[in-house]
Parts: sequence; C-alpha cells; structure tokens
Amino acid sequence: MAAATALLNLKKDFPLLVNEPTLVYLDSASTALKPRAVIEAVEEYYTNYSANVHRGLYDLSERATAAYEGAREKVRTFIHAGSSREIIFTSGTTASINLVALSWGRSMLKRDDEIILSILDHHSNIVPWQLLAKDIGCKLKFIDCDSKGRLKLDQLSKLLSRRTKLIALSHVSNALGTINQLTTLTQKAHAIGAKVLIDAAQSVPHMPLNVEHLNCDFLAFSGHKLGGPTGIGVLYAKEELLKQMPPVFGGGDMIREVHTDHSSWNDLPWKFEAGTPPIAQAIGLGAAIDYYAKIGMSKVRAHEHALTEYALKKLAELPGLTIYGPADAAEQSGVISFTLEGVHPHDISSLLNEEKIAIRAGHHCCMPLMDRLKIPATARVSFGVYNSTEDIDRLIEGLKKVQKIFKV
Ligand code: ALA
Repeated sequence: MAAATALLNLKKDFPLLVNEPTLVYLDSASTALKPRAVIEAVEEYYTNYSANVHRGLYDLSERATAAYEGAREKVRTFIHAGSSREIIFTSGTTASINLVALSWGRSMLKRDDEIILSILDHHSNIVPWQLLAKDIGCKLKFIDCDSKGRLKLDQLSKLLSRRTKLIALSHVSNALGTINQLTTLTQKAHAIGAKVLIDAAQSVPHMPLNVEHLNCDFLAFSGHKLGGPTGIGVLYAKEELLKQMPPVFGGGDMIREVHTDHSSWNDLPWKFEAGTPPIAQAIGLGAAIDYYAKIGMSKVRAHEHALTEYALKKLAELPGLTIYGPADAAEQSGVISFTLEGVHPHDISSLLNEEKIAIRAGHHCCMPLMDRLKIPATARVSFGVYNSTEDIDRLIEGLKKVQKIFKV
C-alpha cells in the first residue's frame, strides 16, 4: 500500500478535473494538466498587459518585459542554474535539442566525430542528430538497455573514443519511466573532453533537479509537461558554450546592430531568441514553477513514487500483464508501460476511454526502443501531482473489464 503520508490531494487546483470529476487522467508524460494559477496568469497577461517585450518605452511593455524576464529567473532558480544568461526560451524540448544540433553541432563538430545516444531516447533526441550526421558526416552510436529497460552503462567505456564529442540522452525514459543515473557518465564524458546534453522533459516536472550537481553542458525541457502552457520550453546551456555558439534564427531582438553587409548579436540569452518570443507562455510557465515550487519537488517525487509503488503492485496481480521497464518504484519515475496478453494496446486505450480513463498507447515516439524490445507498442500510464490511489483502482477495474471483453 502506498505510504499515505506521501500522498497529496490537489485535484481541486486543476479546473479540468473540477469540471470533469469522473475523469481519470493518466497521461501526464504526454502533457500535464494545468493548475488554475497558470490559467489565471495567462489570462491576466492577455487581459491587462498584453504588450510586446523589450521594445516599448511605456508602462504596459515594461510590465510585460518584467513578467517575461521574471519567468526566466524563476526557471533559473528552479533548476539551480548559475545565471539567467544560461536560460534560453524555446518552443519546447524538441526545439531546444534542435537548437543545440544546429548551432553547437554544426559549428563545433566535424566529419567522423561521434555522438553517443541511447536506445531509450525519444525521437526528438535521435532525429536532430541524424539530420546533423547527414549534414556533416558525424557518426551516431547507441547505449543499449537490458530487458528491464535499464541502460547498460558498462558499455560506455567501449563506446567512448577520442572522437566522442557529445553524449545526449534522456534523464527519464518517456516510454518506460526508467530514471537514468548520469553522474558517472558525465564525469567520463568530461574526462575525454566530450559534452553532455540531458533531455529532461520527463524529469524536471517530477523530481528535484540541479544542473550544477548534474554538471551537464546542455539540458532541455518543455513547459507543458510541468503544467505550463504549450509552445514554451527551455534550453539550459553553460554560458561559456552559449558565448561560442552562433545564433540559428536571425531577426528582431537577437541583434545588437544590423548593417546592409553585416550584423552583430545581442547579449545572452537574447542572441538565441529571435522575433517576438512566447510571452504569455513564459509567464504561464513562471506560474507553473511557482505552483510546483510551493509544493516542493521532493514532495512531488514522494507522491508519484507512492503512486507508482501502489500501481506496480496492483498491475502485477492481473494475469497476462507484462510490465516493460524496471518495475521498481525506486528506479522509475511515474511512468508504467505494459502489454496485456491477447489485447492490442490501442484496444486497451480505446476501451479505457469508454470508462473515462485517459492513457497513451503506441510506440511513444520511441520506435528504436520498441524494435529493441521486439514489440510494436505498449499501453502507458503516467502520473501527475493530481492523481490518487482511487485513480489507480479505477484503472485496475477498467483493465479487468478489458480482459473480460477479450475473454483473457
Ligand atoms: N513525449 C510525450 C510522450 O511521451 C509526447 O507522450
């Protein structure tokens, strides 16, 4: 049984759950529900001060600029970065990783240089590097995982070479929930002069995170998985790297001077933020960070750990159910992937939908991982701060109905 003391009771803070009290939302790895405070912060911007930032010498614009730059400072504090110059707003994790590939990758890497990825990675941390490899001729290598979805980190010494320039991999697997231990990997990468990029899309919303302790060079995450608006994400990068990197997008706000034959660039972080930025989205993300920081990320992790422990125990009692992933709440964020013998994951999801239970089914944007596990798809449940053990009980009842319909 989950430790009752670890459990939070927050459904009342989420308007969608207040309006739909019978909904069981178990797809937070896809996107998290929005707390009221986020919706109100976005509405307040659009209603009362929806001016552009960094441009107007009038009160409304100064208020918008203060709120936008204030959100950057909230991000900096939340992930413990040393300077707000290291926080670039993007449209999401995918855009953040592509920015590193297009700027740092294209300017720093050469033919036959090597990048190490992992078989657990999301397409957004594979395809940008494939595009770069096609462009400049660098090579990609993959760290494998074991049958429980744990990275085989002992392979690293064989994969690392004097040509390795980057290790880019997910902190938490979006498909299996595995929490990857990255400290030793980062030390080994740095010892040979390689950089480390962490896809933190599935860790920033679910556990305390400190970029200085991780000592990563780049870290990417999305606002919407943290209860913020869609269309906002973050690239953290060490300042010394950002200084060397060329901008990818040119336009307003990213320049210092423009002449007909040349231009010079704005200071960090604005050098990488061309055009009108996602102002409302950043302000909403700032409100989401306030909401989560007030709860405390250790409490968020404890809540989701307790739910994961409870769900793993209940799911294991169902005949014909196979869990892909560590199946150990200590090694797993609140994501559980499974199959049911005799039922396609899409059918599980559709039938649960009839019970007002929302889960994701498919390859989870991890086709190489599905190939590695020799399965086409899984059903996946993923938890947020608003979930409860009652939600898991409803899931188990729903799965029993699925088994009854399919006579398994
Ligand atoms: N990356 C998101 C997920 O895992 C969309 O569902």
